[in-house]
Order: sequence, then C-alpha cells, then structure tokens
Amino acid sequence: MTSAEMAIPEAAALRLDVDAANPLPPIRPPAEVSTLRLLRAFRSDLLAAFSADAYLQLRVTFRRLGRQFVVLSDPDDINHVLNTHLDRYQPNVLAQRLLEPIVGRGLVLAEGAEWEQQHRQLIPVFQPRHIDRLVPAFHVTADAHVASWLNGMEKGHVAERNLLVDFRRLTLAVIARSMLSIEDETRTAQLADFASQAESAGALLRWQDYVALLAWKNIAQPAERLDVGARWRAWVGGLLDQRPPIDDVEQARDMLDLLRAARDGASGAPLPRALIVDQIGTMLAAGFATTALGLYWTAVMLALFPEHQEAVRRELCQGPIDAPPDFAALRASRVATAFLYESLRLYPPAYIIAREARQEDRIGDFVIPRGAAVIIAPWLVHRHAALWPHPHRFDPGRFLQAGRITLPKAWMAFGSGPRVCIGAAFATMEILVILRCLLGRYRISLADPAPSAVGRVTLLPDTQPVFRLTPL
Ligand code: HEM
Repeated sequence: MTSAEMAIPEAAALRLDVDAANPLPPIRPPAEVSTLRLLRAFRSDLLAAFSADAYLQLRVTFRRLGRQFVVLSDPDDINHVLNTHLDRYQPNVLAQRLLEPIVGRGLVLAEGAEWEQQHRQLIPVFQPRHIDRLVPAFHVTADAHVASWLNGMEKGHVAERNLLVDFRRLTLAVIARSMLSIEDETRTAQLADFASQAESAGALLRWQDYVALLAWKNIAQPAERLDVGARWRAWVGGLLDQRPPIDDVEQARDMLDLLRAARDGASGAPLPRALIVDQIGTMLAAGFATTALGLYWTAVMLALFPEHQEAVRRELCQGPIDAPPDFAALRASRVATAFLYESLRLYPPAYIIAREARQEDRIGDFVIPRGAAVIIAPWLVHRHAALWPHPHRFDPGRFLQAGRITLPKAWMAFGSGPRVCIGAAFATMEILVILRCLLGRYRISLADPAPSAVGRVTLLPDTQPVFRLTPL
C-alpha cells in the first residue's frame, strides 16, 4: 500500500483551495513524517503527524517507533473497524491512560459485554425527551453569560472578548447545571478546577506513557494523574451522598438523577455507585472541552462568513431572545444545523480516533497486523481530496439537499458505528441554544487573524484572537 515513506511534494490539491475565495488559514502538511517529527508531534501538534499524502490517499501505512501505523480514511474501511469488526480493535493505550483517572470504567473505555450493558443503561438517559427537558437550563445559563459580556460598558460600545475562555466557562456552567444542578459559583469553580486539572494531567505525556506505548502497557500512572482521579471520585461521591433516593426517571432534575434512576432493562438493577461516578466523569471528560471547541470553531466561521452569519441569525433568532427557545424549532433549524455541521467538518474537536488491532485483520487483501495503531482521523477524512469537492472550503450547502439536511457518509464529527458519540444530540442542542443567545444579541467579527488548528487531546486554536461583539 501507499506509504508515507515515499516522499511526495506538497500536494498541489491542497494549495488549490488556498485562494482569495477561501479566508480559512491554509494547512501545510509535511511531505514526510520522520521519527523525530512524529515524537515532536506527540508533544505539540498531532496534525503535524499527517503527511500530505494522507489527504490524498485513502490508506497510508508507515512503521515508526517499532510499531505499525495504519491511517484509514475510506468510509468502507472505517465501517469495518468501527462497526462490522469492532471486536477486533481496542482503545489505544495512550487514550486509555490519559482518560482512565477521571472516566474509570465508564462508557468511553468499557469494552465487550461491559460496554453493551452500560450502553443499554445510558441510551435512555440521552433520549431526545430528556434533552428537551434540559433546554431551559441551557438557555438560562447561556443567556446570563452572553448578556453579562456587556456589563459595565457604555451603551453603543463593542465588547472585545476571548471567546475560547468565555465558551469554556459557559459550557462548564451548562454541564454543572444540567448534569449536577450546580448553580452556585463555589461549586462551579470546583468543577472547573477538576476539568482543567484533568485536562492538564491528561494532556502532557509523561515518561511512563512512552514506556506504556513502546514497551510495557501496565506501568503505573503518574502520581499526579492518580491524585486528580481520587479527589474527583471523592467530590462526586459527596454530591451523591447528599441526594435522597430516586427510582423514577420522571422525578429526575438532572443527568445525575437520570443515572441514579436508570435501571438495567434485563435485570432491573440500578447502576452501582462507583459506576455512576465514572459515568459523570465520562460525560465531563468527553462532553465539556469538545462542546466548548465545537462552539468556538463555529464562532470563528460565523466571523469569517458574515453573510452566512446573517442567515443563521435570521433562522435562529425569531421571537423574544430572552425567552427559552422552542426545541422543536431548534431541531428543525436547517441553516444553522448545516452551518454547524460544516464547522465541525473543517474543525472536528475530536479530530482523531485511535484503536489498536487485537489480532491480525484483513480488509480484502489489505492486512492490518496485530498490535498496529489504527488511526481514523475525522480531521483527515473531512478534508480528504477523494471524499469532498473543494475539501478545504467552507460550504454549509454540502449538508443541504432540496432544503433538507443530509449527512454524507464521510462526515464523522461524532464518530461512527455503535460507539458513536452518545452525547451528540445533547451537544448539538446545547450549541444551537448558545448560538441563538449569542446571535440574538451581537454581530460577531474578528479583530485579529483567524487561528489555525493544533492537534492536542482535542483540536485547539493556535492563537486566541480577540472577537468583537457588536450589540444589535
Ligand atoms: C461537539 C461536541 C462533541 C464531539 C465533537 C464529540 C465527539 C465524539 C466522538 C468522535 C466520539 C467517538 C470516539 C471513539 O469512537 O473513540 C465520542 C464518543 C463519546 N462521547 Fe462525544 N462528542 C461531543 C460531545 C459529547 C457530550 C456533550 C457528551 C456527554 C454529555 C459526550 C459523550 C460521549 C461518550 C460517553 C462517548 C463514548 C461512547 C461509547 O464509546 O459508546 N460527547 N464523542
């Protein structure tokens, strides 16, 4: 198969999309990824580990650090790994180590029969009717944050904001309220502390992680990561202890109650206490930074494409803006949804999905050796020359056909197969509610050049430009 060993010049196709009609920062993949570059990429920007041919070839294989890497971008290959033969693959060792202290045995890392049981228990919790019940909480939190950005400023002034910081605060407050009914500043700040400690404990690779990657999987976690995990468990355990028993989901006031009231369809058993704690950690780890970044990249696109911004505003901001939105109308909002999907196509917060082959596997005559690192990168799949016309251009129209939303099979911002994101509807609704509050009050533009993407645990911006919010 095609290999990144083969040096190819920087792909002409990539350059073609970088023209006056495309205000997005260009990407400049290397022709080849040496071992040194790969090691650097692990520390600073995993996007730098994708060579130019990964944007042009559907299968790329290379051997580095004593390990076979297989990068798959063909939707049929992806379906093989993430769906029809998912039992032949396990979570990548690094993802496991970085997430485990907070998510424990929760859904993200559970496997086999354990995953199936947890999934059965959690699917009802994420039903649209429960998410719809959270919409007023999304709205109240978003409205208060967005309105406060003009506090203390004179009438007619323009607010200059770092929306990365603002959106992280806002989405954390939404999680605190909708998952844990936390509204006071002290406990919201404690939750924010856990989120950032977990992020920094999980973002930096330590020497133990390199040992785990290259030699011995079972080496102990760094003490700092274990410590964050233990304090997190004690904190959520404390919240659980304060609540009266519950066994009817209809009485649930938040996600924690829904988990406490959930019963196994087969045995009728409630979730064990330790597992409830793990699932709350899972939702925080999987749902906080991803949603904040999804919102952030969407705001960058709104600023870069003012005509689209107007169209999204027209659709979302009907009726009084400080009243909670009608969730049926939000769900039917095609212009805004297509805009969001296109933003998540170009900037997928969960930009890489890594698995490890448990056994030798074959897709036709293509062999994936046992132990190979299998990389499925929404970032690459979404920008692949064989899968999208003008892949680097922003065009929400790709998701609209005859006025209806359509999802091309190469779109996978929320993953694919049975392990697709369980929080996709939650995140989509939350983002639409926040966009409605934002666009109902302000016109958004950028005071600085747009950021480029950097691949860390999630897809971060390389700079934090000032956004101008002009009151309407
Ligand atoms: C824009 C926001 C989000 C994005 C882009 C996103 C993306 C993803 C992706 C790509 C996966 C698949 C990972 C894999 O196959 O390895 C995933 C899984 C998951 N996501 Fe999300 N997610 C988002 C928001 C959320 C939210 C808000 C929650 C919870 C409230 C959540 C909970 C989960 C869980 C529990 C899984 C694991 C599912 C399983 O393994 O069965 N996510 N997410």
